[in-house]
Amino acid sequence: AAGGLIAVAFAGCGIVGPGPVDTTGATPFDEPLAIPPLAESHVAADGTRVFALDARAGATEFTAGVESDTWGFNGGYLGPTLVADRGEQVRIDVTNSLETATTVHWHGMHLPAAMDGGPHQMVEPDASWSPAWRIDQPAATLWYHPHPHGETESHVARGLAGLFLLHDEAERALGLPGEYGVDDVPVIVQDAGFSRDGEREDPQRGYAGGLGDELIVNGTRHPYFDVTDALVRLRLLNASTARTYAFTWSDGRPIELIATDGGLLEASVALDHVRLSPGERAEVLVRMTPGETVMLQSRMTPEIAGLVPAVAATNGGTDAFDVLELRAAGDLEPGASVPARLVEIVDFDAADVATTRHFELGDGFEINGEAMDPGRIDETVTVNTLERWIVENRNAVPHSFHVHDVQFRVASIDGAPPPPEMAGWKDTIFTEPETTYELLMRFDDYADPSTPYMYHCHLLWHEDQGMMGQFAVVEPGQRATMSEGTHHEH
Ligand code: C2O
Ligand code: CU
Repeated sequence: AAGGLIAVAFAGCGIVGPGPVDTTGATPFDEPLAIPPLAESHVAADGTRVFALDARAGATEFTAGVESDTWGFNGGYLGPTLVADRGEQVRIDVTNSLETATTVHWHGMHLPAAMDGGPHQMVEPDASWSPAWRIDQPAATLWYHPHPHGETESHVARGLAGLFLLHDEAERALGLPGEYGVDDVPVIVQDAGFSRDGEREDPQRGYAGGLGDELIVNGTRHPYFDVTDALVRLRLLNASTARTYAFTWSDGRPIELIATDGGLLEASVALDHVRLSPGERAEVLVRMTPGETVMLQSRMTPEIAGLVPAVAATNGGTDAFDVLELRAAGDLEPGASVPARLVEIVDFDAADVATTRHFELGDGFEINGEAMDPGRIDETVTVNTLERWIVENRNAVPHSFHVHDVQFRVASIDGAPPPPEMAGWKDTIFTEPETTYELLMRFDDYADPSTPYMYHCHLLWHEDQGMMGQFAVVEPGQRATMSEGTHHEH
């Protein structure tokens, strides 16, 4: 029955994706991992930390001697890593040197809707845009990427994405590994297709979207990283447009998870694997012994994807990849000792919920039966209130669900408490077929009746097809009003 359902839902768009892939052990990993540069910034007279990002076209040698056309911020592929402190006022001077309009969205950031970089903050070619806001949320691994309506998949797949790291006092006090690119390592995972000559090419689309049959990390094919410290913190970002991963270690050691999308967990947790769908992040610690080598892998199974057998049979749902090889030096700097208790996370009190809303991820690419209309506000939220969002995936295939502006907590999944990797701060979740998620979130600050935030499936092809809605945050009693014409012209 489920097989019929999916045939109806996805008729005409290539139901059966690329078959099962297992490339583990197939290739030596002998390219040094590229580390995105730290973004330069300066502090203006009024104390604002100012960054500059330029979206531009370029070329990237994924394979030595073979150039592929790519896009990047301030370079040919991906973008620099922005770093800021809680409490800082930041401004990002965005310029667009592409021949097409784009946007830059700060994924996971709590900020005014007009600064959010969603589809209403288009930056035309040769134009600029300078969003500014105060960082007011815990230390976390956030990221940025374009969000032009209908074009997000292609802009991200071409290479427009980067990390935005936040620090705060509580995190600093823990003494976690924090030397960028040394023991605090960005791991931006994407899938890609390559021709036999090694030129990047657009992958085939399955139900989830474009699925490349190879992985790249920080834009590097077959990467290894030289470890010099006994304790390493990896910041995993799934920046793929469609593919979901289940990260594990090749020798079976547990994944030591310390943080999810919006910040640190209360305590680290040892997991068999950590599953990340597009847009999700995880910070993990790995303890190395001198001279050893271990491979970060992804081993996805139908069980981890929550696929019912009939769907698994038509969609594969099984793949295995080598991701990143860690090579420990013969002598390692002693690692910091990390306290058992990390931070305190105060639970929302469900008794404070002011409004409960329902979001049904139904057939096709609709939420509550409607495709995205940039001129329609779907939900109006009163500022400074707690809400319960019930997200129900009624499809036979997985989707994801991302909410702008807030970090939420997963209160329950089909009535049961969430697993540890979903128990901290989240802004994006993978929703399994025929499963219901109860989310609690507070919409503090930034009432603006005329500028909406987005919620959507973060499988970017689904988002582009319209699996997205808009909410406005308003003062009590206020009505949302859409004002068109927020495009920035030069
Ligand atoms: Cu990462 Cu609305 O997006
Ligand atoms: Cu989806």
